Amino acid sequence: MSQTVEDQKDAHGGTPSVLFQRYGIEPRSVIDFSVNLSPLELPESILALWNQLPQRIAHYPSTDGAGVKAYYTQRFGLDADCVIAGNGSLELMYFLQRVQRYQHVLVPQPAFHDYQRSACAGGAQVHSCQRPLGQDYDAFLCSAPFREALAKVDAVFLGSPNNPDGATASADCILDLCAQYPNTHFLIDQAFIQFLPIPGRASLLNPQHLRPNLFVFHSLTKYYAIAGLRIGSLIAHPESIRALSQVREPWSVNSVAETIATELATCSTYDTALRAWLATESQHFDAALSKIPGIQLYPSATNFRLLRLNDPSQYDQVLTELLQQGQHVRCCKNFPGLPAGCFRIGFQAHDANQALVAALQKSVS
Ligand SMILES: Cc1ncc(COP(=O)(O)O)c(C=O)c1O
Repeated sequence: MSQTVEDQKDAHGGTPSVLFQRYGIEPRSVIDFSVNLSPLELPESILALWNQLPQRIAHYPSTDGAGVKAYYTQRFGLDADCVIAGNGSLELMYFLQRVQRYQHVLVPQPAFHDYQRSACAGGAQVHSCQRPLGQDYDAFLCSAPFREALAKVDAVFLGSPNNPDGATASADCILDLCAQYPNTHFLIDQAFIQFLPIPGRASLLNPQHLRPNLFVFHSLTKYYAIAGLRIGSLIAHPESIRALSQVREPWSVNSVAETIATELATCSTYDTALRAWLATESQHFDAALSKIPGIQLYPSATNFRLLRLNDPSQYDQVLTELLQQGQHVRCCKNFPGLPAGCFRIGFQAHDANQALVAALQKSVS
């Protein structure tokens, strides 16, 4: 293994205990703005299914997660032969890189921690380059520094929409790259794609977008707030899926996840409700956040925002005051490629969001 696989400690949101400990605050219950999950209730039909689920666990699920594949066929018109179902999308990021054994993987920063970690775990040398915050993503992908870095690797890992800032590339731009660099693999994480008001322009979950060198990761975790169920997928060209399926473990997706994924495919009223909530909330939140002096807001069309304190020396004090009021935001100190003073918030219910804005107005000077 050419680089050390990093420790996972503190790598993800959802762990207020880390900040309680760091700032010496007595643990208390919090509203967790550090996670980017939908705040909507699960669809009625899923709750109605709940009582039947215990009967399913006596039996093995399908060997290949057919219930999850059915979600992608119904929702995106993707045939089962271009989907590998997984126990969350992360499992598939690690699986793909273990199998492909890339030598050199490029991860532009800032980026989600597990792109780099999964590449290291697969034995690759990880290369990074800086993506300037606020720069148009397509412009970055066409820029000389990115192209120079790309020419030296056999794979590149990109988030689109990207965590932590929400920057999103167009599908056309990624497909152009696939055509221009046919020997390079493009690993694209689209965990947040369904949150976009018009995903079509950016979405690679489309049968017409399959390419031999394109590997797209998708997750049901965020959009339906089912992190504990672990449902995700790898979408790729049928030839790639055929080869990968030959070394894939059976039963990676459990029968509860399979049943729920199939049912979720039919819940279109959930999408309508989520889009309506996000449109309203984004408008309110963005307007309010952009008026707070001392805070820079990075624009995004997703359900989370990256913010930066103009005076990073206030950082610990602001995060401490928020925590004392039970508001846990994502400390971004451990995101390589971010300037000092950044934190990320995932939208919660309207009242909680309003309360966070009020607390920030008070805390940040
Ligand atoms: C950008 C991004 N991709 C993927 C994941 C993980 O998704 P899953 O739950 O499907 O493994 C996360 C979780 O935090 C994430 O932030």
